[in-house]
Amino acid sequence: MTILNRTETVTAAERLAAQIVDTPTGYGGVEPDQQWAEAIRALAKARNATILAHNYQLPAIQDIADHVGDSLALARAAAAADEDTIVFCGVHFMAETAKILSPDKTVLIPDQRAGCSLADSITAEDLAEWKAEHPGAVVVSYVNTTAAVKALTDYCCTSSNAVEVVNSIDPDREVLFCPDQFLGAHVRRLTNRENMHVWAGECHVHAGINGDELTEQTRNNPDAELFVHPECGCATSALYLAGEGAVPEERVKILSTGGMLDAARSTGAKQVLVATEVGMLYQLRNAAPDVDFRAVNEKASCKFMKMITPAALLRCLLEGADEVDVDPVTREAALGSVQRMVAIGRPGGGE
Ligand code: 13P
Ligand code: SF4
Repeated sequence: MTILNRTETVTAAERLAAQIVDTPTGYGGVEPDQQWAEAIRALAKARNATILAHNYQLPAIQDIADHVGDSLALARAAAAADEDTIVFCGVHFMAETAKILSPDKTVLIPDQRAGCSLADSITAEDLAEWKAEHPGAVVVSYVNTTAAVKALTDYCCTSSNAVEVVNSIDPDREVLFCPDQFLGAHVRRLTNRENMHVWAGECHVHAGINGDELTEQTRNNPDAELFVHPECGCATSALYLAGEGAVPEERVKILSTGGMLDAARSTGAKQVLVATEVGMLYQLRNAAPDVDFRAVNEKASCKFMKMITPAALLRCLLEGADEVDVDPVTREAALGSVQRMVAIGRPGGGE
């Protein structure tokens, strides 16, 4: 842990940090005001740190970050960072991926309790057993997995480049795709690949955005466009609505969070229904202020993403905690699959 030199900034930040309270839902007690923003910028400079933030982060965290983007864009930003320290405002697997790509850098996450229910839906032991049942198959794992799972993986992917990654694999080879069943179904649909097996995992936030809600919202807002994240339980329903003619096909867009931002900038629609974690609405409204963006499910908030609070970021930069490490053997085994992910596909949103 690097201790900061005592300066006026550090003393002011410590005074602010005295208000921090630790609760089961994260660190609280600090408002993201001007004083906080000045302390964060000064502490990041003192640590020679870059702050990366995922599109689902709280608005104050997005506003203070050096880069905001989707999983792919942030992995690439982490790999290209010149600073000594990467502060990852996102969830644990994202910070781990940054450490795999940049082992010589210090990688910090403002609260190491920020996990991911999707990453928890497959363990390295599960994957090893599945591989043993399909000898010779190529393993494609979503980036939302632990480093130990990545170490048993041939290609990682994100929702931005999953289709390109699977298309890059010899069509005669069997593919094991894990852990997200809805993204897997989307990829199978677009690649027409029959020799692809999909793990039955899911993200509790996206799986909870269901087809009934989408159908009702579509009925109430008949001219709206639909932006649907492929992790959503309603992705299939969206395509069904298009197939049935309930929504014109060109108005249904299955997109990563970065893809949604690109689409927001060029949409001609006045209203867009958004099926993903609600943190995304802040970015979309900033990108296209004249468009009326509405959540398909307003309760679709990821408690893990929201653990990265203003208080947590202050504590992180002040104390150099929580540090994320990956043991060298796992890192070495995981590196190839992560490098393949970073190399395949068009730029992710935020790059
Ligand atoms: P993307 O930002 O890659 O679309 O991923 C969404 C997600 O659920 C991250 O946890
Ligand atoms: Fe994981 Fe879902 Fe939260 Fe994304 S939204 S971090 S997939 S639990």
